[in-house]
Amino acid sequence: MVRITYVEYNGREHTVSVPRGATLMEGARDNGIPGIEADCGGACSCATCHAYIDPEWASKLPAKQPMEADMLDFAHEPDPSRSRLTCQVKVNEALDGLVLHMPQRQA
Ligand code: FES
Repeated sequence: MVRITYVEYNGREHTVSVPRGATLMEGARDNGIPGIEADCGGACSCATCHAYIDPEWASKLPAKQPMEADMLDFAHEPDPSRSRLTCQVKVNEALDGLVLHMPQRQA
């Protein structure tokens, strides 16, 4: 299990354990954390799982695939340096301690 901290837009933090191989979106959904809607269920076709990765961690994630980069254009106020679609990021031990912040609203 990997510790991930999700921070709601209002500042409320949720630190939970997410299984290796699950996505950041699944970690939020399975722990009932609000702020990530994931309307398409993880198919990279809705942009409602958008979050801002903490700057300290943003460069440690695998690079975006073209489909994720394209879909991020539909997210609410994306930040190219730290926005990700959380359904496209799988959790592994190297991400233990990762912090991500929810946007004000989803697309
Ligand atoms: Fe739809 Fe991530 S859940 S793009």
